Amino acid sequence: MIRIQNLNKTYKNVQALKNVNLEVSKGELFAFLGPNGAGKTTTIRILTGLAKLGSGAALLNGFDVGNRSVESRRQCGLVPQSINLDRELSVFENLTIHGKLFRMDKPERNARIDELLDYVEMGDRKETLVKNLSGGLKRRLMIARALLHSPSILFLDEPTVGLDAAIRRKIWALIKKIQQHGTTIFLTTHYIEEAEFLADRVAFLDKGSIVVVDTPEALMNRMGTWALDHLKEDDMETLYFNDRKEANEHIAAHKDSFTLRRVNLEDAFLSLTGKKVS
Ligand SMILES: Nc1ncnc2c1ncn2[C@@H]1O[C@H](COP(=O)(O)OP(=O)(O)OP(=O)(O)O)[C@@H](O)[C@H]1O
Ligand SMILES: [Mg+2]
Repeated sequence: MIRIQNLNKTYKNVQALKNVNLEVSKGELFAFLGPNGAGKTTTIRILTGLAKLGSGAALLNGFDVGNRSVESRRQCGLVPQSINLDRELSVFENLTIHGKLFRMDKPERNARIDELLDYVEMGDRKETLVKNLSGGLKRRLMIARALLHSPSILFLDEPTVGLDAAIRRKIWALIKKIQQHGTTIFLTTHYIEEAEFLADRVAFLDKGSIVVVDTPEALMNRMGTWALDHLKEDDMETLYFNDRKEANEHIAAHKDSFTLRRVNLEDAFLSLTGKKVS
């Protein structure tokens, strides 16, 4: 379980996090949604012990991350935003280094590596050099690496950035499977569909502050069910309706061209922050 209380973080002249309060329950899949520079990575870096917190407190399963202890680090695994595998080493060697860092002994480590490579469907890639893996396989290897020491919380910082739609869906299925096996998952994204599809609850983050926390369904229901996009001279206007019939009547009553679609999480984000996520 993750508990964040009055967390602040300032870099020189940028206040990256402003009074963030949040609780994520055991087994929950929680998404942090926000535009570039919102403070998503900063939050994950603090929670995983990679950056110091400014003020406030953060606990992982009751362990204070503020003192960056071995115990608090053991609680979690991290898949960072940018690929940080050793390109010149094999899949097996990359996992071995991580297992050694966590002081896993050789029999335990090797058994866990085989188990996890099967889990992420990479059992046939054990000896492949990382530089010869596709982007999707590199992400899956990073997920396997993060799970190697059996953490109960997994942090995923933009887990599908730069991947095509089909590969992205495979990663989503893997993330769901990890949650179903009992792991708490905290992910950041600026892909709306990713948060909408995966998350039990979502926090909208804007300029270091949490704007709202709720389930994707509840956030979308605030807007209505149907959205009508209307291209104006220099901007897009969107109208919201609960009833499809009403939306169609609006289209019939006006000459302009409209696009009717279902409300999505971006509509809720836009209405609460005045800006788009991506
Ligand atoms: N090491 C650092 N030194 C100075 N400023 C930083 C540092 N890391 C982050 N920042 C600043 O803190 C703010 C939050 O950055 P952060 O990387 O947490 O955002 P993000 O939500 O992860 O963005 P992105 O979607 O681009 O990954 C930004 O204004 C950023 O420029
Ligand atoms: Mg980031």
